[in-house]
Parts: sequence; C-alpha cells; structure tokens
Amino acid sequence: MRIWVAADHGAWDLKEELVVWIRERHAVEVVDLGVHSGEAVDYPDLADEVCRHLVAGGSMDRGILLCGTGLGMSIAANRWAGVRAGLCHDEYTARMARQHNDANVLVMGGRVTGVAVARAIVDVWLQESFEGGRHQRRLDKLEYYARTRDVPH
Ligand code: RB5
Repeated sequence: MRIWVAADHGAWDLKEELVVWIRERHAVEVVDLGVHSGEAVDYPDLADEVCRHLVAGGSMDRGILLCGTGLGMSIAANRWAGVRAGLCHDEYTARMARQHNDANVLVMGGRVTGVAVARAIVDVWLQESFEGGRHQRRLDKLEYYARTRDVPH
C-alpha cells in the first residue's frame, strides 16, 4: 500500500510526526508531499496533489490530508470522484471511516487533534477493513451521483 501525505501550515508539524510514526510501525510506502514549515500555503493545492496521485495510483493507494481543522482538506478532497475523505477525531470515527465508508483518505485537524490521538487514529484507519454489503451499495450511489449529476451553469 502506498500513502500520499500532505499538510498545510496548520498541521505541518503533526504531519512530520505521523510520517515518522507510520514508517516505523506499518509496512506501507509513505510519500510525503509537504509542506515542511509553518509558512502559509493554500490547502486546495495540497489536497489536489494528493488526490491526483491517489486516483492515478489505483485502488491500493491511500491519502492522508491535514490542515488546521481538517475541514478545508475534507471539502477539497471530496470534490474528486473516487475519493472518499473522512474527517476523523477519534478511534471510533476512524474505525467507521474504514468499516462503513471505505475512506481512502484520512483527514485530521492539527489544531484540533493532538499527536497521541492522531497516531491512534492512523493505526485504526490502517488496520480496519471495509465491511462491504449495504455499505458498498451506498458507495456505489455516491459514485453514481458524482459521475452523472447534471449541474446547471
Ligand atoms: C489555515 O489557517 C486554516 O484555515 C486551514 O488550515 C484549514 O483549517 C482550513 O480548513
């Protein structure tokens, strides 16, 4: 499994911690797309980069996106068909994000979630599996609506 990781200035330090944590504890490839300082950047640019790689990479790829609250990254990532970004605050939401939503992108807020909780969330999100069944039907509908919606402009 390959994980594309990025954060804006609101969570760059949490990202640095999590990249080390994942590399030490999980047999996955981690690609750190930045940022590496607290200099202000725009979260849509980072979200777009991760989602572009994720969608191109195939079904085994995943993403982790971090910003101050997690809200901006969630909004940005969920505009992509095929991306299911889950904003998680604890182990329960991380478990549900995998079991029910098959979230292929984990989102957290660096100004909301501390390092210890964020590590636990990552562990759960990497270990839990999608349950399928009725949840697959719902994911199919998400994709159907995203790909067929006729938006007036
Ligand atoms: C940056 O100040 C902050 O707005 C951003 O990190 C994120 O929280 C947006 O949703």
